[in-house]
Amino acid sequence: MKIKDQKYNKIVSNILSDDDFNQIKKIEHHGTTRFDHSLKVSYYSYVIAKKLHLNYIATARAGLLHDYFFSKEDRNFNERLVSTFVHPKEAVNNAKRFGLSDLEENIIESHMFPIYISIPKYLESWIVTTVDKVVGLKEFLVKYSFKIVREYNVLLLLFTLIR
Ligand SMILES: [Fe+2]
Ligand SMILES: [Fe+2]
Repeated sequence: MKIKDQKYNKIVSNILSDDDFNQIKKIEHHGTTRFDHSLKVSYYSYVIAKKLHLNYIATARAGLLHDYFFSKEDRNFNERLVSTFVHPKEAVNNAKRFGLSDLEENIIESHMFPIYISIPKYLESWIVTTVDKVVGLKEFLVKYSFKIVREYNVLLLLFTLIR
């Protein structure tokens, strides 16, 4: 996925061209890649923050970095559960080398609110945590609805054969 908005791309260009950050392109995340998920959350949050005359630069940057953490493909249930709670802090630590402001740090750390108890202190943080949930839900539904449709079709075929 690529964003055509030049102003947005300029704000996040140093992150988008970073080799280590680009490694999240290889990680599966809700049926897409962690990179595509992060880019969507960042860009939609940026558009909203800009409309509301908030700090859209911090919103774009922290939105892009909110899931900047690394995980194995074959994690079991317990590992996934632990990751749900620890990844906001991991993302903050990984993102620190991009020079985070307090606002950006809070956006990243509180994006899993209320599952992970770090409270969004700024409107920009509320925007990113909300957009993350909407984007995440959509990705989740796309991922699993295909599965449901596929399995339903198999059932339909079986019914046709045995009736
Ligand atoms: Fe996350
Ligand atoms: Fe996310």
